Amino acid sequence: MSTDAFADLDAHLDATAGERLADFLELLRIPSVSALPEHAADCRRAASWVAGRLSRAGLEHVEVAETGGHPVVYADWLHAAGAPTVLVYAHYDVQPPDPLDAWVKPPFDPRVEDGRVFARGAADDKSHVHMLISAAAAWLAVRGGLPINLKFVLEGEEESGSENLDRWLTANRSRLSADLAVISDTGFFEGNLPAITTGLRGMMYAQLDVRGSFQDLHSGGYGGSVRNPATVLAEIIAGLHRPDGSVDVPGFYDAVVMPSDAERAESARLPFDEHEYMASIGTDALFGEAGFTTLERRGARPTLDICGLWGGFQGDGSKTIIPATAHAKLSCRLVADQLPERVFEQVRDRILALAPAGVKVDVTYINGGLPSLTPIDHPATRAAAACIEEVFGRAPLFVREGGSVPVTASFGSGLGLPVVLLGFMNPDCGAHAPNESLVIDNWEAGLRTTVRYWQALASLPI
Ligand code: BES
Ligand code: MN
Ligand code: MN
Repeated sequence: MSTDAFADLDAHLDATAGERLADFLELLRIPSVSALPEHAADCRRAASWVAGRLSRAGLEHVEVAETGGHPVVYADWLHAAGAPTVLVYAHYDVQPPDPLDAWVKPPFDPRVEDGRVFARGAADDKSHVHMLISAAAAWLAVRGGLPINLKFVLEGEEESGSENLDRWLTANRSRLSADLAVISDTGFFEGNLPAITTGLRGMMYAQLDVRGSFQDLHSGGYGGSVRNPATVLAEIIAGLHRPDGSVDVPGFYDAVVMPSDAERAESARLPFDEHEYMASIGTDALFGEAGFTTLERRGARPTLDICGLWGGFQGDGSKTIIPATAHAKLSCRLVADQLPERVFEQVRDRILALAPAGVKVDVTYINGGLPSLTPIDHPATRAAAACIEEVFGRAPLFVREGGSVPVTASFGSGLGLPVVLLGFMNPDCGAHAPNESLVIDNWEAGLRTTVRYWQALASLPI
């Protein structure tokens, strides 16, 4: 796998594999769940752990930077005179681990088995946090320097909407000046085929609250004479889609850029097996917007999904009430050129139009992020593809991903940087789900790819 030019670095990575894995497990033991206030101290603990490893690796200006929320960890190394400056990004926060009883071992008690590490955050995204630090540590230990100038931005609020990040980026604009941003928070294609993500969807997340009475009512005493908020909630939700799977919200598709014919043809050539896809998630039928393939539905088209709904009696046995309230959380995945605030207004207006007299309906914006598209033909993207091919023995596919990494747009259209999405998560990693797992071979080979990529960037005209 190693070419001569990297023999010393590869030997170092081989020799340190055991201690790197043990060190990674330490990071995984910190429950840095950004969405849950009771884990705020753990997020800080993870930030200072990460800062400590950056210092130990030899990075400079290491800082646990306040943002108003969970801190950003910043560090740099700026001694590669004449070489490009690259901003590298990953996030140290993780999703909540529930449902806990679905985990074979507790989510923050990492388990190594069958060539994988099982833990919350093992893949998304602590694998990349650790990988980026290890790549810098290897260069500095073996060569005494880096081939490019690096600026690390390791975020702690990605999984809860990056609410404070844009303000921090703007306030630190000059310190963050760079030639390129490399975001490591994506993964490979189905079948664990090497891939570079070229598109990410944006996000609009909202809550829907329906209130009927002051408090729960006796369903015998009042049933039949009043609106039931749970029924109204169900009717509203049912009114947000048409039977053909399209979103029934006026104006929703107005700003959507259709994928070009060439892009659609390319997407159709990807080695995607619908039956394997169904088997991998345990369903017997796929569903989505008519007129589009499964890959288009999940990568190139916008969606509206109910992420949770609750209200009324949830316990064992029976309780005869008309619930006073019913609630839902919903997310829209957005594509270029949809704007989260505009989509929120459209969805809110549609929901309010569906609300009957006899209930009070509120729709609240929770968070949002912009979609992004990155060009395949940028020299930094082509260099990434070449490094992946060298290490993994196969040229990467270029794919649009359905998930969201709002910072991509912040670095791209916000800071004006070209962006490369260089991530190595195995597609069956179960990000956000119980028993999340990282394929260790992806992680090790991803590290070697990153080590080579920095060298490749050194001589690029970017
Ligand atoms: N790393 C993911 C995004 C992702 C998912 C990329 C799948 C590639 C494949 C990221 O951490 C994430 O989960 N983002 C959230 C964003 C939200 C909280 C604003 C998402 O997509 O739900
Ligand atoms: Mn992530
Ligand atoms: Mn995530």
